[in-house]
Formats: sequence, structure tokens, C-alpha cells
Amino acid sequence: MATLRIIFFVTLLAAIVLAAPAPAKIRKRSFKVPRHINAPVHARGLNGGAAVRRVFNKYNLKGGFIAAEKTGALATDLKINASNSTANGTGTVAANPGDNAALFLSPVDIGGQTLNLDFDSGSSDLWVFSTDLPQQATTGHGVYDKSKSTTFKAVTGAQWQISYGDGSGAAGTVGTDAVTIGGVTVQNQAVELANAVSQSFVQDTNTDGLVGLAFSKLNTVNDGTKKTPQKTFFDNVMGDLDLPVFTADLDPDGTGVYEFGKIDATKFQGDMAWIPVNASSGFWQFSSAKFAVGDQVAENPTASQAIADTGTSLLLVDQNVAEAYYSQVQGAQLNSQVGGFIYPCAATLPDMSVAIGDTYMAKIPGNQITFATVDQANTTCFGGVQGNQGAGLQIYGDVMFKAQFVAFNGGNQSLGFGEKPPVA
Ligand SMILES: *[C@@H]1O[C@H](CO)[C@@H](O)[C@H](O)[C@H]1NC(C)=O
Ligand SMILES: *[C@@H]1O[C@H](CO)[C@@H](O)[C@H](O)[C@H]1NC(C)=O
Ligand SMILES: *[C@@H]1O[C@H](CO)[C@@H](O)[C@H](O)[C@H]1NC(C)=O
Ligand SMILES: *[C@@H]1O[C@H](CO)[C@@H](O)[C@H](O)[C@H]1NC(C)=O
Ligand SMILES: *[C@@H]1O[C@H](CO)[C@@H](O)[C@H](O)[C@H]1NC(C)=O
Ligand SMILES: *[C@@H]1O[C@H](CO)[C@@H](O)[C@H](O)[C@H]1NC(C)=O
Repeated sequence: MATLRIIFFVTLLAAIVLAAPAPAKIRKRSFKVPRHINAPVHARGLNGGAAVRRVFNKYNLKGGFIAAEKTGALATDLKINASNSTANGTGTVAANPGDNAALFLSPVDIGGQTLNLDFDSGSSDLWVFSTDLPQQATTGHGVYDKSKSTTFKAVTGAQWQISYGDGSGAAGTVGTDAVTIGGVTVQNQAVELANAVSQSFVQDTNTDGLVGLAFSKLNTVNDGTKKTPQKTFFDNVMGDLDLPVFTADLDPDGTGVYEFGKIDATKFQGDMAWIPVNASSGFWQFSSAKFAVGDQVAENPTASQAIADTGTSLLLVDQNVAEAYYSQVQGAQLNSQVGGFIYPCAATLPDMSVAIGDTYMAKIPGNQITFATVDQANTTCFGGVQGNQGAGLQIYGDVMFKAQFVAFNGGNQSLGFGEKPPVA
């Protein structure tokens, strides 16, 4: 079973009282926020192996074919130099220092300062690069300066720390401020100010922090002895929205729109299927015990639970499911050097479907499975469907969201799925 997140609490006695967020000042009862591509990171390459490592590291899963420190050797072995990266991210298996790199970011205003944050339905902390960090850690990042905000309030004694499996992580102090997303403001949103970030976050320039959109119980704020979880932005605005939802509507290139409070039925075909989530872990989690390769539905009796994670690039399925899929792709092989399943780019890929609960199969068309090419000549491709190597959790990321319009319903704790129109 996977140990999900390792959260360290520094043992320091401090009694704290956290300010209760004031009700959201909502004029609009639904609002949108764009999801942009983080160009400089993208230029470093859509690196398949790194994408697998990133998700293993995020959830501290056991497995991963290559340790991060071996990526240099990987690049050398494949005779591909990082400078071969093209601006559109093709043809690279370059060593990518930014294993935690967020490719997609959305603008968020905190106390009048705009930062580019990664909207992550797989975590629950809203944390930012701040002026509490040493200057060499913040080069290239937007940085929140609490002294320049007239609405910032420190929360005395409160701290937070997230640590990932590879030793990367971030930590710092806590305050509240007015946080505006899509024109809607939460006055006393808990904002977590980093005073320490690991090197991988430092190198991921343009990522100024995260907006966690999983359930608030996963929030890591503590008073030194015990967890005192703070509400996510979504939990704070939810009651004032027309519908207690946010939706992820991603285009094939991964850009798109998050919308809060509304379900835009023009973005998907047919009716939305609703599946209750198992929120006991704090994730948008559900069972996923069936899959289909093409039209062939198969049971996965030993299935791990699955989560919907906008902060992950790939569709990470149980290893037997990935093996079953690639057994139907001519020339596919598990390549430990590259870090996952690869195949000739000329291969015809069948559609892949994964069960969402007991009642819905989320289909990803075969022509949307490829994640990246692994060589400049575009002859070998890296799949967007990969195995979790027995890690005990299936993690459904952007590969799924590009094919499925997904509504996260915090009101009745369910997920709504609608199939997006096919891409030519
Ligand atoms: C990448 O660039 C290096 C030098 O810049 C070159 O030696 C190598 O052959 C290139 N690799 C490919 C696959 O084009
Ligand atoms: C990558 O290529 C650049 C430019 O061709 C070169 O300056 C650099 O030394 C190369 N790096 C490696 C690790 O080969
Ligand atoms: C990707 O970049 C290469 C090299 O710069 C260019 O030839 C190609 O047209 C680009 N492809 C797309 C889809 O933009
Ligand atoms: C949750 O709410 C939606 C509408 O907001 C409704 O259509 C759906 O049936 C509900 N799902 C569950 C599992 O209760
Ligand atoms: C809900 O999730 C928990 C924690 O991951 C798991 O142990 C439990 O079996 C799940 N419950 C159901 C009904 O699937
Ligand atoms: C590889 O694919 C990219 C993007 O589709 C394209 O720009 C590039 O010209 C291709 N390279 C070759 C050698 O076909």
C-alpha cells in the first residue's frame, strides 16, 4: 500500500488560533480561470520518464524505474542533449531537473499581487514563493511579499510543511489574505508562505506555488503539535456558488479553463455521469476495477483505488492494466531506461477506457494516448498511459482530463464525467 504524503510536524509547542475565513465576497456566482502553458518549462521538454518520476515522487510511491540522480546518465546514454529540446517540446529525453515542474499554471491574485499557480486537485495547500525565501531561491519566480499587502494577517505559531518521496518539498509560515481567482475574492484565505523550498521547485521557474483543490483534511497547516487543517479556496467559495463545483476543461495541448460554480454542458457530449467519491483519504478518490482496451472490457480484480489529479500529467494505472493495454500495441515494450512503456510512433493505438466507480467508463481515444516522442526523428513514442508498478494507487491526470470534461462536486462529494468531442 502506498504511503501517500509524508507530512512532518516540527515539535514546537505553540497555541494558535486561526482566523475563520470571512464569507467569500461574491458578486459573480460562477467564474472562470484560464490554465496557461508554462513556456520555459515546456521548452525543457515533455519528458516522459520525468513525468513518471514526478507522479511517483508526489505521492511518495514505491517504484520508478530511474532515480532522479540517474537522469544525466539517461540523457547521455540516449545521446540526446538537453539543448536539442524544441520549443514545442518534441524530441526530448533530456535530463530535466524540474521533476516537480508544473507545466500548467493559472493566475491568482493574493493581496494585490499576481502569482502563477498550479491548480492541483491532488493536494490541499495554497502555498506560494515568498520574500521569506533567500533571494537565490526566487530568481525567475513571482514572489509574494507580505509587507506589501495591506490585507495580510500573520497567523502566529502556525506552520506547514509538505515533503515528497524524493526529499523535495516546501515549508514555511502561515497567514491569511484576500485571494482572488477569476475575479472572486475570499477575504481571509489561508495562504502558506514558503521560507524553504527544495531545489526542484527552485529550478521550476515560473511556478510560484500551488492551489490545492483536494479536500481540506489533507491541508498540512499545524500548530507545532497537531494538524489544524485550513480550508481550501474551493471550500471557502463553495457555499456562494450557483453549484458547489469546479470543472476542468482541458484542450489536447493541456491548456484550458477551470470554471467554478457552473457546469458548461456545451463542453461535452450527452449527459454527465455522476460518481460518488470516497473522500476518506482526502483525495477525489473512487474505485476503478474495470478497464477496456478498444471495446474489450476486462475486470481488474486486484484494482487499486484511483484519484482524479489535475496536478499529474499521465494516466497512471495498475501495472497489469498497463501491460494489458500495451500488449495490444504492436512493438510496445517496457523500457526501464526511458522509464516506461514506449512504442513505434507509427503504431496504431487502441482506445483506453478506465472505470470511474461502478457506472462509468472514461474513454481516452487512441490518438490522444501518446505523451511525447523519445527521439528527434519521432520514431519512438512514450505513452501517456503508464503502470504504477504495484504502488497501490491509480492516478488519473491530464491524459484523462484532455478526453473527459470533469466536474468536482464538493456539495455531494461526487465527480461528474462528460466525454469531450473527438479530436481529428
Ligand atoms: C543533439 O545535439 C547534440 C549536440 O548538440 C548532437 O550531438 C546529437 O546528435 C543530437 N541528438 C539528436 C538525436 O539529434
Ligand atoms: C549540450 O549541447 C550544448 C550545445 O551544443 C553544449 O554546449 C553542451 O556542452 C552539451 N551538453 C552535454 C551534456 O553534452
Ligand atoms: C515543433 O518544433 C519544430 C522545430 O522547431 C518545428 O519544425 C515544428 O514545426 C514544430 N511543430 C509544431 C507542431 O509546432
Ligand atoms: C451530485 O449532484 C449532482 C448535481 O449537482 C447530481 O446530478 C448528482 O446526481 C449528485 N451525485 C450524487 C452521487 O449524489
Ligand atoms: C475508501 O478509501 C479508503 C482509503 O483509501 C480505503 O481504505 C477504503 O477501502 C475505500 N472505501 C471503499 C468503499 O472503496
Ligand atoms: C517530429 O515531430 C515534430 C512535431 O510534430 C515535428 O515538428 C518535427 O519536424 C518532427 N521531426 C521529424 C524528423 O520528422
